[in-house]
Amino acid sequence: MVLELRNLVLGLLFWLCVLPWAEGGKVLVVPIDGSHWLSMRDVVRELHARGHQAVVLAPEVNLHIKEEDFFTLQTFPTSYSQEEFGYIFQRHRQMIFKTHFLEKFLETIESMKNGSMMYYKSCSELLHNQLLNRHLNESAFDVVLTDPVNPCGALLAKYLSVPAVFFLRFIPCDLDFEATQCPNPSSYIPRLMTMNSDHMTFLQRVKNMLFPLGMKYICHINHSPYASLASELFQRDVSLVDILSHGSVWLFRGDFVLDYPRPIMPNMVFIGGINCANRKPLSQVCMLPLCN
Ligand SMILES: *[C@@H]1O[C@H](CO)[C@@H](O)[C@H](O)[C@H]1NC(C)=O
Ligand SMILES: *[C@@H]1O[C@H](CO)[C@@H](O)[C@H](O)[C@H]1NC(C)=O
Repeated sequence: MVLELRNLVLGLLFWLCVLPWAEGGKVLVVPIDGSHWLSMRDVVRELHARGHQAVVLAPEVNLHIKEEDFFTLQTFPTSYSQEEFGYIFQRHRQMIFKTHFLEKFLETIESMKNGSMMYYKSCSELLHNQLLNRHLNESAFDVVLTDPVNPCGALLAKYLSVPAVFFLRFIPCDLDFEATQCPNPSSYIPRLMTMNSDHMTFLQRVKNMLFPLGMKYICHINHSPYASLASELFQRDVSLVDILSHGSVWLFRGDFVLDYPRPIMPNMVFIGGINCANRKPLSQVCMLPLCN
């Protein structure tokens, strides 16, 4: 039954890219800058190759989102400079390589605070840009493709009443579970960044229970401004989970070979193979004493 439903959803939502005889659709792409965009760009290229029209929406100040011939780039002005933006990305990259748990945790908070403030600024400026929103509304997009780690694309989709397809590696704070009402037993599902496996000792399970509390704090810092922005736009109380519940399909760039198994909902699809689009042969490595 679940499999059938899943196939149905897959069929419905992939009509855009699967049916070569289907009329070309109009896709509004709201990417996140950096490496996130690099994997999304391949999808946009493929959509274009299959006759769909993609408009990529990005702030004027960005790292990697540049004009290409397989999409239309629509930029919008921001109140921060390229230098301010580049500095935050640089600090974030340095943090990734820290291994000390507490240090990493504290730096993560600071880096996310800074980064999310800037992302939020650009999101607020985007959603308050009436001229641009009128134009986007009139463009009558069929679908919004976005990475929900930055909820701006999801919020914009909800605001424009356009279905959203989420394209993500993962999202912190179990927001995917909450937004899709997916079962989430913490005794079996290792939490993000805990380094636990799906077989946990008692103490690891305790860590698995406690760690999300810290993450919730980070997520609160990161996400509460979006809930306020949404509440302002819709003139009622809107939570982040409400915004993310707008997603029709969740495409996870993961795989149960790479990640631990977890419950999924019928509108979740694992497309981990997409990360191997540009594969290269492994270079030969000499491991003593196997060399000869
Ligand atoms: C965060 O921003 C503050 C003030 O702008 C800056 O001093 C600090 O280095 C930044 N930290 C990170 C991790 O980006
Ligand atoms: C989009 O256009 C429709 C029809 O003109 C209108 O009812 C709706 O309020 C507009 N939405 C936004 C977000 O501007």
